[in-house]
Amino acid sequence: MARILIIDDDASVRDMLRACLEAAGYECAEAPSGEEALSAARRQRFDLSLLDFRMPGINGIETLRQLKQVSPLLPVVFLTAADDSEVAIDAMRYGAFDYLAKPVEAETLEKTVRQALEASLPMRVKVEFDPAPATEAHPDRIIGRSRPMLDLYKLTGKAAASNATVLLTGESGTGKELVARAIYQHGRRSDRLFLAVNCAAMPENLLESALFGHERGAFTGAYERHIGKFEQANGGTLFLDEVGDLTSLTQAKILRVLQEKTFERVGGSETLSTDVRVVAATNKDLRREVEKGVFREDLFYRLNVLHIRLPPLRERKEDIPEICTHFFKQLVVEIEKPYPVLTAEAARVLQSHDWPGNVRELRNVLAKAMVTAPSPVLLPEHLEIPQPSALTGQGESMTGPGIGGFTFEQLDGMPRDLYRHVIEDVERHLLEYALRRTQGNQVHAGKILGISRSCLRERMQRYGLLSGGAAGLP
Ligand SMILES: Nc1ncnc2c1ncn2[C@@H]1O[C@H](COP(=O)(O)OP(=O)(O)OP(=O)(O)O)[C@@H](O)[C@H]1O
Ligand SMILES: [Mg+2]
Repeated sequence: MARILIIDDDASVRDMLRACLEAAGYECAEAPSGEEALSAARRQRFDLSLLDFRMPGINGIETLRQLKQVSPLLPVVFLTAADDSEVAIDAMRYGAFDYLAKPVEAETLEKTVRQALEASLPMRVKVEFDPAPATEAHPDRIIGRSRPMLDLYKLTGKAAASNATVLLTGESGTGKELVARAIYQHGRRSDRLFLAVNCAAMPENLLESALFGHERGAFTGAYERHIGKFEQANGGTLFLDEVGDLTSLTQAKILRVLQEKTFERVGGSETLSTDVRVVAATNKDLRREVEKGVFREDLFYRLNVLHIRLPPLRERKEDIPEICTHFFKQLVVEIEKPYPVLTAEAARVLQSHDWPGNVRELRNVLAKAMVTAPSPVLLPEHLEIPQPSALTGQGESMTGPGIGGFTFEQLDGMPRDLYRHVIEDVERHLLEYALRRTQGNQVHAGKILGISRSCLRERMQRYGLLSGGAAGLP
């Protein structure tokens, strides 16, 4: 249950806010002044604060400034009378999360509080790495001790230690958002705001206004100035999710703010500056989008300063048992079912599936199984995934040595995606062969294979053959 600190000098306003919020299931504490709010925040942890502007003693803006020192990540929703709306907008630039105009309607209050709590979750809930000992009950944890994951942790650590723009790529459900949060939380700006924008979720004009803000009257319905995320996150981190879906106009604007750290609000003429660390993510192949001419090459290079590729689950199947255990612990709490027993057959089914939806798909399958199975014992029939389809060909069975080091019997028993499996296996063996022959000399190995060194390195990274050093750096 989230704990909310209500700061207002007017007892009747506090009562009203408390009644609404408690009815919505939140726990509330009150402070009649900025000074008392500060001492309350020093004594205990809150998940959100509602803060009035006009109060005897220190005013709202000053309280906000000092609250940020006591509790840098506490999301603050500003409360103002209608004629103070400029102040509220200013508060956004001092790190307020949102604002509400008085008199506050119960419904708006509940919605704003819910959204602010949701949006601040990536800051409040710690992401930990797998090898770390469990400290809290079930924190968000990046699970996996396979080679590709250990490489990922190394790169994530490097990204956290730097201020450079990061591009996270990987298929859907591979954990890009989790890694973005980890980079922020373990980085230098962890005491400043982390805001996220999904670039695919809005039409161009709304996205532009969400990112850069707008001036009053910029378009029909723009009744007030709006502060965009690039301005609000000044000093902090902005997570641009699904950047592969940006239109060319928005690409141009983002390029400018990355290059020059300046922008204008929509409909505004004042040039503003901001210092925002950008972490971007996409499940598209941006290089290919550049080749197709739909993504700007210059923006690609600006984003791709540090590149982190998240391995798909099928490249690290050895992590599946541990991921299951992790999700079972979470799901037991979430769906209030007893801890399940995974039968050996069910485990085999999980292990042989290729997981096109990656970790997210695995979690969904486990959740569904726990809900539908009549007992805690999970059998293959409770797992709603396409069964590993051994070859269903009707033709003759083949005899002979096989293909690419696999016997025909092995090929017949292979799950879907036969082509990719075999080719990747052969490719990996070729790389290992060339590297062994040249004692790891990448230039010579590339010559043996007839590919460029950068192509070689890209393949090596794909197969987890790069160790340490500048792995992943362009
Ligand atoms: N390595 C991991 N360990 C534990 N949980 C993970 C891991 N990777 C992903 N998850 C979980 O899987 C789900 C999907 O992850 P996330 O939202 O980060 O994926 P994504 O790469 O952003 O996908 P999309 O491209 O679809 O947005 C989340 O519930 C996340 O917590
Ligand atoms: Mg995502």
